[in-house]
Amino acid sequence: MKSCTTLFTTPATTRRSNGLRFILSLAALTLVPQLSLQAAQLRIERSHGVETWETRQLLVHPQIQTIQISEDVAYKRDMSYRAIPLGALLEGVTAQDHLQAVATDGFAAEIPAAPVVQPKGSKAWLAIEDPAHPWPALSNGSQSAGPFYLVWTAPSADNIGREEWPYAMSTLRVLASVSERFPALLPDPTLAAEDPVNKGFALFQKNCLACHRLNAAGDSQLGPDLNLPHSPTEYFSAGYLRQYIRNPQSLREWPQGKMPSIPKEVLSDTELDQVIAYLEHMVARRKAGE
Ligand code: HEC
Repeated sequence: MKSCTTLFTTPATTRRSNGLRFILSLAALTLVPQLSLQAAQLRIERSHGVETWETRQLLVHPQIQTIQISEDVAYKRDMSYRAIPLGALLEGVTAQDHLQAVATDGFAAEIPAAPVVQPKGSKAWLAIEDPAHPWPALSNGSQSAGPFYLVWTAPSADNIGREEWPYAMSTLRVLASVSERFPALLPDPTLAAEDPVNKGFALFQKNCLACHRLNAAGDSQLGPDLNLPHSPTEYFSAGYLRQYIRNPQSLREWPQGKMPSIPKEVLSDTELDQVIAYLEHMVARRKAGE
């Protein structure tokens, strides 16, 4: 799992430097605010290396322009920014990739790359705080949304949520898609995109992969592997498997159980069927990881 090692080492180093940056920016805030603004840097971390952009380089980027944002999420009012289409800084990133925007305090927002790199629909912009024209402070403190803030025009076109407007951003991390990092999770590639198994695979990534591995692939081992040595579709009768996923303690009760109930608002009945179709399908694709 070579790609995995890279993924794990990168966040650890960044967390340390973020912590440092946080302390430095706190010190700078009280002492020399202008200096802290001028020194801002955006890190773009990719599997093949790190790029850094200084505020002043970004302010003269050929694609910079003034944009108007109505009902800005951080400021809760209409705003105007100097901004660059985020896609312009992410050449080579595909719609299957995944972005993590890390803020100066270490908070990481998860953003699928698709709406950022696709030309139509919602458009993502990197808003840049010009030290010569600082932004106002946010209502929750003395800091502004700078030095970098990810804002959207036409956010409703792609259903962009509030958590996809990360502010006080210092690092943007490009992660490969789950399918690339963990090919052992992939269903039969000849299935149609809208096949229930493929839908179930997408739902599995969203709702189960945070805790479970499958075919020894995945980042978490909080819950058991869902295909090794056996799939729950082999040893649970179908009704009980549904009941278990909806409410694990209704089937097996013990105080240390950690699997949460998954209600219909999170996973509809049709979607639960699709997840189960994916698990069933993966029985024939069982393999002991890489
Ligand atoms: C927050 C973590 C978490 C999430 C999310 C989660 N699980 Fe679990 N799951 C667990 C844990 C932990 C267990 C082990 C039993 C326990 O501690 O509750 C478990 C047990 C199970 C079992 C029982 C396996 C066995 O042999 O007893 C099944 C089946 C299962 N999970 C399926 C799923 C599916 C399908 C999803 C997604 C729809 C899912 N889980 C989402 C944590 C999670």
